[in-house]
Amino acid sequence: MISSRFLSLGRKIVSGSSSRFAAPSAAASQATRGMPLRFKSSTAEEVAVAAEEEDVVPQTSNDNNTASTFSRSKSGTPSPWAAFDAWGAGDDISEPLDPAVEAKLEPKAVMIPLSEDERANVPDEADILASYEQLLQKKSSVHFGYPYNLKFDFTELQNFMNYSINNLGDPFVPSNYGVHSRQFECSVIDFFAKLWKMEKDSYWGYVTTSGTEGNLHGILLARECFPDGILYTSQETHYSVFKAARMYRMDCQSIPTLPMGEIDYDILADTISKNLDRPVILNVNIGTTVKGAVDNLDRILRILKQLDVPRDRYYIHCDGALFALMMPFIDFAPEVSFRKPIDSIAVSGHKMLGCPMPCGVTLSRKEHVKRMEKHIDYLNSVDTTIMGSRNGQAALYLWYSLRKKGIAGIKRDVVHCMETARYLRDQLIEKGLTCRLNDLSSTVVLERPMDVAFVKRWQLACEEDIAHVVVMPNVTRSKIDRFVEELMECTEQHGRVKVARPDSPLTKLGSTW
Ligand SMILES: Cc1ncc(COP(=O)(O)O)c(C=O)c1O
Repeated sequence: MISSRFLSLGRKIVSGSSSRFAAPSAAASQATRGMPLRFKSSTAEEVAVAAEEEDVVPQTSNDNNTASTFSRSKSGTPSPWAAFDAWGAGDDISEPLDPAVEAKLEPKAVMIPLSEDERANVPDEADILASYEQLLQKKSSVHFGYPYNLKFDFTELQNFMNYSINNLGDPFVPSNYGVHSRQFECSVIDFFAKLWKMEKDSYWGYVTTSGTEGNLHGILLARECFPDGILYTSQETHYSVFKAARMYRMDCQSIPTLPMGEIDYDILADTISKNLDRPVILNVNIGTTVKGAVDNLDRILRILKQLDVPRDRYYIHCDGALFALMMPFIDFAPEVSFRKPIDSIAVSGHKMLGCPMPCGVTLSRKEHVKRMEKHIDYLNSVDTTIMGSRNGQAALYLWYSLRKKGIAGIKRDVVHCMETARYLRDQLIEKGLTCRLNDLSSTVVLERPMDVAFVKRWQLACEEDIAHVVVMPNVTRSKIDRFVEELMECTEQHGRVKVARPDSPLTKLGSTW
C-alpha cells in the first residue's frame, strides 16, 4: 500500500512549458515501443561464445522484470522472494512501519547491555532482528537513488556463512590459511580479464571490499610507477579518487567538466601541456557518480598522443564502478579494454551484479603489481592488496552470480536497465519536468524534488538542486509509474526547485548536452 500521506495528495500534471525540456531520442521511442535492442556481438569473444548458445530473452516494454536477472531454470528456486518481493513489481511498497516495530530499532533498544539490570530493559534480540528485517524489506522496495542491484537470490550459499572464509594475502599465491575461496576469486578475475580483453599471463587483480578500494589500489599502483606524477581527473569524479590523492600525497589537478559531466577535454589538454616535465596519471571515469557520464577514453588517448607523451610517461586508471560492467554489453558502445593503453580498471561488485555485501574487483597489468609486492612470512604469501584479511564470502558470491547469470543474463540485465531508464526519462519529459539521461547511462538526472519526505522515501541521491535515479535490474516500469505519480503530487504540493546559482547543476542540466 502506498503511504496515506501520498494518497492524500491530489493529482495534477504540471504543464511542460520549460525550455529545459529534453526531447526523446529515436532510440528512446524505439525502446518505449517495446522493440528489443540488439546485443553487441563482438564483446569479449572468449566468454561470449557461451552466450551465443544461451537462451537470450531481450527485455521488452514488459512491466515485470522477473526474467531479466536470473535464468530461473538455472538459478534454482526463487523461494525467498515468493514471500518477500523486495525488488519485484509488487504494489505493496513502503507502508510506514508500525511504531512498536520502529521502537525496537531505536538506539536505546539496540544498545548492548553491560549489566543484567540493563538487559532487563531492552527487547529480546529475536524481536529486534524481526523488526530490522521488516525495515529492510520496506526500504528495499522503494530504493531508486543508488546504483545497487537489489535483485538477487543467493539462497544456495547460505550454508557458507557458517565458515570464516578469508582470502588473506594475494589471490594467486597460496597462504597457509586453508579456509579460503581463492579458487573462486581467481575465476572471477579470469572472467573480468576476458571481458576487458587482457592477454593471458598479463594481468593481476583481486576481489576488493568496494569500488573505492579498487580506486585506492589503481591510484597507488600509478603512484608507485610515477612517484612524481600528477593525477588528472574531472571535477565530477567520485570522492574516492580525491581521497586516494590525499592519502598518497599526490599532486592532483581537478579538471572542469562539460555540462553532461564528461571531463573538459580542451582544459585537460591545456593543463597537461603546462606540466609536460612530469609524468601523467589519469583517472578516466567510466560513468560518473551523479550523471553517469563516460569520459571519452579515445579522445584522451589522442590528447596524450598530440602532446607527445610517450607510453612510459603515463598511467591510466579507469573508474568503472557501475558502468564498466555495463559498457561491454551495449551495442556499438566505445570499447574500454586493455587492448588500449590503460593500466587498471576498478568496478563495484554490489552495483550491477548485486551482492548482499559491498565488494568489487580491480584488475591491472601484472608488471605494475610486481613493483609493490612484498613477501610476508607470517602469511606465507605476498602482500599486494590494500587490505590484509579479505572477504572470502564476497569472492564466492561474485563467482556464483557470474556463473548463474552468465553473459546472457548480464546482457538481459543491462538491456533492462537501459530501456527502463529511457522509459523513466520519457515519463518525466511527458510531465514537463527537467531531466537528462546520458547516452551511455541508466542514471536519470532530474530536478531535486522539494519535499524531503519524498526524497527520503525513494532514497534519492541529491546534489544541490538536482537528484538522480539509477535504474537497476530491480527497478520496474510499474515502480516508475508509481514514482512519477508521487513526484507529480509532490510537485503540486511543494512546487519546483529554483536554480541554486547561475552555474548550478540544474542550470547545466537545462543547457544543451
Ligand atoms: C564513479 C564511482 N566510483 C567509485 C564509487 C565507489 O564505489 P563503492 O561504493 O563500491 O566504494 C562510486 C560509488 O557510487 C562511483 O559512483
